[in-house]
Amino acid sequence: MIYDYIIIGTGIAGLNAARLIPKNKRVLILCKMSTWNCNTFWAQGGIASAVDENDIPAHIQDTLTAGVNYNDKNAVELLSKKSISTIKNLIDDGMKFDLNDKGELAYTKEAAHSRNRILHADGDATGRMIHIFLLENCPHEIVTQAVVCDLLIKDDICYGVQYFTNETNQKVVYAHNTIIASGGVGSIYRYHTNSTANAGEIQGIIAEKHLPLKDMEMMQFHPTVVKGTTFARKPLLSEALRGEGAHIVDENGYRFLFDYHKDGELAPRDVVSRSIFDYNKKTGLGIYLSFETFEKVAFKKRFPNIYSNLKELGYDLPFERVPISPAFHYSMGGIETSLDAKVKGMKNLYAIGEVACTGVHGANRLASNSLLEGLVFSQIAVENSSKDDFKITKENYDKPVINYVRNKEIDKDIKDNLREMMWTNAAIVREPAKLKTTLETIENYLKLDVGRLLFLRLLTAKAILKSALKRKESLGAHYIKEN
Ligand code: SIN
Repeated sequence: MIYDYIIIGTGIAGLNAARLIPKNKRVLILCKMSTWNCNTFWAQGGIASAVDENDIPAHIQDTLTAGVNYNDKNAVELLSKKSISTIKNLIDDGMKFDLNDKGELAYTKEAAHSRNRILHADGDATGRMIHIFLLENCPHEIVTQAVVCDLLIKDDICYGVQYFTNETNQKVVYAHNTIIASGGVGSIYRYHTNSTANAGEIQGIIAEKHLPLKDMEMMQFHPTVVKGTTFARKPLLSEALRGEGAHIVDENGYRFLFDYHKDGELAPRDVVSRSIFDYNKKTGLGIYLSFETFEKVAFKKRFPNIYSNLKELGYDLPFERVPISPAFHYSMGGIETSLDAKVKGMKNLYAIGEVACTGVHGANRLASNSLLEGLVFSQIAVENSSKDDFKITKENYDKPVINYVRNKEIDKDIKDNLREMMWTNAAIVREPAKLKTTLETIENYLKLDVGRLLFLRLLTAKAILKSALKRKESLGAHYIKEN
């Protein structure tokens, strides 16, 4: 049988696409682990949207300023102009955002936004609430533990997907349209805020097929994760905390960020992360997030999940400050797509959300524009694919299907080393010589007989390093230090 759609990924982009595809279509949704194991589930702060028509120019300008004007301006305009109707569509369907005392939508502020325009849900569990809403309203079948290992691509047509159903078995499925919504590359870095499902394998498949990846050097590091935990995913302290008054201080209580940028804690994210990194390196002092401007009851009400998560870790907020450091957070780069959400050069293959690079985020994503991007571009993908009504014929895919080995014995050490190298040499501050030796190491790993999933991860890491080496000057999140 041929599905109308295969969707890879069950974050906001994949599930919103599923919500918008009519019930009578045959849709298969592939989820790599369990459905909650995605970045959307962990997103705290909120979802940005132009508050009204008058706010669109300012939202566009803030997005461009944070992105160092490296953004695709048409993509930014599209994102902002569609934000109001897209959010309205979600609310009309039943999604509940937090309201203020007057019963109106409550907007908060985050760094580099010139006004309050971030919607939130259950205080500081916006991603989780959207995710639950979309899962509850998903009209199509979801297969979990389906680990994609290949795309069936011939010329400019995608015929379907090959995936592992367990450690050894594989399955091939065909579809008229394939939508990739598999998220970013967090697990390639030692310290990250991402779901463990996000390891960049699909970007590796795209590189293998010589399809375009764009801006792969543009990786965003969130300034404030809790330092010193042993979790694979580092607990995030949302940007909204700083938007509403939390301070970044050194161990002596000094707000050093104003030495780096006039906006201090509310400077763009790349600036804040880099300043923390630099200040800590220069002074050796510990860095903390301080909540002294908050009153306890109000804090608990506004940030209930951060309050209780941090309590479990032994911190009594807002009285105690929390040690922080930056960690990998978001890939601005990814599979190059045009504004119709199609993978460049392909007829029936779409990429949406973090895995895609529309150019909307430029060199540094503005806080809370990512959930919005997932919503807007999933809608665009569904609208355009139904307009195209493209049909494949199975018989035209005459390439042999390869029987892959998912994991091999040697993979574990290489995976660990890859994470460590990417964190040390291709993260917040990059030195060309170290990028080069890391690339050489990865090229050597690629000559070894590794499992399919690691092979794909290595291809993605290689793409990041090659792009980073190509961009000789610093720009936004890509910061080069000559050695
Ligand atoms: C946060 O809550 O700080 C994350 C928001 C984002 O990454 O846009």
